[in-house]
Amino acid sequence: MQEYIEKNRDRFLNELLDLLRIPSVSADSKFKPDMLKAAEYVRDRIAEAGADRAEIYETEGHPVVYGEKIVDPALPTVLVYGHYDVQPADPYELWNSPPFEPIIKNDRIYARGACDDKGQFYMHIKALEIMLATGTLACNVKVMIEGEEEIGSSNLGTFVRKHKEMLQCDTILISDTSIIANDVPSIETGLRGLTYVEVEVVGANRDLHSGVYGGGVANPINVLCEMIASLKDENGHITIPGFYDKVQDLSTSERAALNAAPFDLEEYKKDLAIDDVAGERGYTTIERTSVRPTLDVNGIWGGYIGEGAKTVLPSKASAKISMRLVPDQNDDEICEIFTKHFESIAPASVKVKVVPHHGGLPYVTPTDSVEYRAAELAMEESFGKKPIPTRGGGSIPIVALFEQELGCKSILMGFGLDIDALHSPNESYGLFNYYKGIETIPLFFKHYAELKK
Ligand code: BES
Ligand code: MN
Ligand code: MN
Repeated sequence: MQEYIEKNRDRFLNELLDLLRIPSVSADSKFKPDMLKAAEYVRDRIAEAGADRAEIYETEGHPVVYGEKIVDPALPTVLVYGHYDVQPADPYELWNSPPFEPIIKNDRIYARGACDDKGQFYMHIKALEIMLATGTLACNVKVMIEGEEEIGSSNLGTFVRKHKEMLQCDTILISDTSIIANDVPSIETGLRGLTYVEVEVVGANRDLHSGVYGGGVANPINVLCEMIASLKDENGHITIPGFYDKVQDLSTSERAALNAAPFDLEEYKKDLAIDDVAGERGYTTIERTSVRPTLDVNGIWGGYIGEGAKTVLPSKASAKISMRLVPDQNDDEICEIFTKHFESIAPASVKVKVVPHHGGLPYVTPTDSVEYRAAELAMEESFGKKPIPTRGGGSIPIVALFEQELGCKSILMGFGLDIDALHSPNESYGLFNYYKGIETIPLFFKHYAELKK
């Protein structure tokens, strides 16, 4: 296997670079033709790898790519999931090289999507090729690569329900998360859920002269800021009634295990150029970013932001707010209690509107399952070290739905690093991580097939 990787090393990389050249930004309709181009590229590479079939399925939104190789119906089946869509590259001026013209620098691939998730799901297509070329594939493989993960996978639920039979599997394997460090392999055993809302505060029926009316009429920006500020107390605790009702508290030993993972707070601060961290009192940074829920403003606007000064009392102000959720919080329920609370704290001088965006449920996977064990053995073999279980802070909304609809747990065997700058300018992915993933995935299939016997 290693020999096959060595022999095809450059091609494996060049194929990924070609994929990274396609600006498949799902959020922006300007890139719609590129979405199809990316889907076709992925389909063709799955076919070339030797799959029995590889197809594009249209949805109400961006297409889904599906392929499969059924070796023997009696063997266990692994469904590989990934996403070919990427986040917008904006702001472009902060990139050191154009986001859709990948370059290799210091053994890293720089491009939007390099790690999230093109570089990571493409490892699976190369692993499939290797296993088929070397006659070592001991499982059936189904591959589903979607195009709407970064916008909430809102059409994928329907797709999964419609194609339940086709997607039937024994476990789901996903590379779309991170490890602690290249010499500290880890496996994420949880993801946070998400409730995302947009709020609008409206005062007078028009923008007003801030001298003539100022002091006598509510300023929606001031009001919005006060309302947002009141959503957390001085301990960083969220004040929405009922918000924590379903939050599972970890036991002392679970907390100890979580905090035993290597983590250097000084390095963390240095990397982010901050003098101190912030968050909920009584919890460590690891806990705050994984097993505790959050509430964050993602964007806020209103009033005059052009050049110079304009003395105006704006009629509207808006914000986008995300809440990361943990078991057993439910995204719809949290959306409802947020809305109720937000409306209740609005003064009579303004009107408020809350518009829900996409959401998703939190997820945890046990570490005593056959599939977790297979991932652990695979990483131990390729990294030379047993991976540590961690809890991730990000969200992959479809993972909880997979469990509901397909009755399967997902294994989050990701290979990214925090320094990969996902969603940020200058996203990158280490060549070490790309090839290590390609090397590890066939080992997962090998161990999984053996353990399932
Ligand atoms: N791959 C990420 C999620 C992730 C990153 C999980 C790192 C764990 C570690 C995924 O593409 C992502 O960005 N998800 C969004 C979900 C949202 C758009 C519904 C997120 O977490 O913001
Ligand atoms: Mn991703
Ligand atoms: Mn992402």
